[in-house]
Amino acid sequence: MPTQIDAAPLLERCFLFDATEDSYEINGIQGEIPAWLRGSYYVNGPSRFERAGMRCKHWLDGDGMVSTLRFTDKGVRFTNRFVQTTKLREEEAAGRFIYRGFGTSFPGDKTKRNVMLEPPNNVSVYRYAGTLLSFAEQAMPIELDPYTLESKGDYDFNGSISEITPFAAHAKTDPVNGHLINFGISFSATEPMLNVYEFDDKGEMLRRRRHPLKYQHSLHDMGFTPNYVAFYLSPLIMDFNRFVNEGVSVMESLSWEPEKGSTILVAQRSAKTEEAFRVEVEPGYCLHVINCHEEGRKFYMDVFEMERPIYGEYQPIPDLFGTAPACRPVRYIIDLDTKALVGRIAMEYDKSPDFPAVDSHRAGTELNDFWALGIGEFHASGRKFFDELIHGSWKSNSIADVYRVPREQYLGGEPVSVFNPANKDEAVIICEHFLPAEGRVEFLIFDAFNISKGPIAKLPLKHMIHAGFHTSFEFE
Ligand SMILES: [Fe+2]
Repeated sequence: MPTQIDAAPLLERCFLFDATEDSYEINGIQGEIPAWLRGSYYVNGPSRFERAGMRCKHWLDGDGMVSTLRFTDKGVRFTNRFVQTTKLREEEAAGRFIYRGFGTSFPGDKTKRNVMLEPPNNVSVYRYAGTLLSFAEQAMPIELDPYTLESKGDYDFNGSISEITPFAAHAKTDPVNGHLINFGISFSATEPMLNVYEFDDKGEMLRRRRHPLKYQHSLHDMGFTPNYVAFYLSPLIMDFNRFVNEGVSVMESLSWEPEKGSTILVAQRSAKTEEAFRVEVEPGYCLHVINCHEEGRKFYMDVFEMERPIYGEYQPIPDLFGTAPACRPVRYIIDLDTKALVGRIAMEYDKSPDFPAVDSHRAGTELNDFWALGIGEFHASGRKFFDELIHGSWKSNSIADVYRVPREQYLGGEPVSVFNPANKDEAVIICEHFLPAEGRVEFLIFDAFNISKGPIAKLPLKHMIHAGFHTSFEFE
């Protein structure tokens, strides 16, 4: 048997500590922050894994904490705060874990209405309709103060959604009109349904459309263009009856059934003049969509396609990605008239890339560039974590540029790309950098088109924070 090496030394120090809420001007900034970078960066991520001697098993189960960097002419202010959920409030008062998690179940654990998770809010955070919304899986978003990050309660889009509305964590903003698009799966055993919602730029629901599904797909993300929405439906199937009746976690209720195949579902956003349609693809698993665009009557969907699901690699905390599946950036090309798959382009890079980011101000249009995190130690056995920042290009169909941190250091958080509004050829990437041997974290800023030369600025934090999931940036 090959000897297992620890490809992620000290990773436990990035997960198992008590996060500190704070707000301060960052001192000791190294390098130079571009003068045009003015506004707020946000990241949400799981940030508490232990209470009263008990540890969450799964990365998705930690209480969400939002961190922000506010870039002004005077400097950069860091603020971080837990997102106040029902789960957090009740568990804080009890001093112990009470609720079942995505991958954590225990005797006597509680669920919402005995049928769904009472989830932490830890996935994503976006400015919308003059406020800041923090998203959880299958729950209403929570409204936060955009500067203090104080939680203000559930955001129900002027009463158009409720706590039982299926509502995913990967809402998308259409940069053309400020509309928010989101989806949610109804896990009915007999009539599973994909719900697609669109809201205007002021919080009013414009429409909710329902698309029947053959299976109870676990679905995390979506893509959109000016006219269409698209979903990569993987054969990761949720057995809702097991979750409700057997007291098991969501993780234990999911089964990977590649014989059922994968499909891409494409549906019109607005007037129902065309029926939604599906095209079959090889049975891969897609957690995240990179971008979609239309070119005439061709529809392009760029995704990270894995050989199998990733959720099993998010446990046990803190030993993640032990058997991480190969994953590649893949572009699917679909003919909207013949409703047929006409092309598939796969990049060579397979180091389990995740957390793709594009220019959010041009999302839904043709974009050649994307950025993501990769696991450089992908081929090692045993635990590992993100240690590469990559820049992919659909012009060369390859990863054009890579930055790798030294051993015992890690990267975290979707590497948000922020483009200079006055020059679309200039952009920066912001991501988290963990130095557990030194017990500290910093934010790094890169020239998006020359990441291998290393960061152009480093912003050291006073306290450790946890690795984030999704990010956003709003100019002010
Ligand atoms: Fe995600």
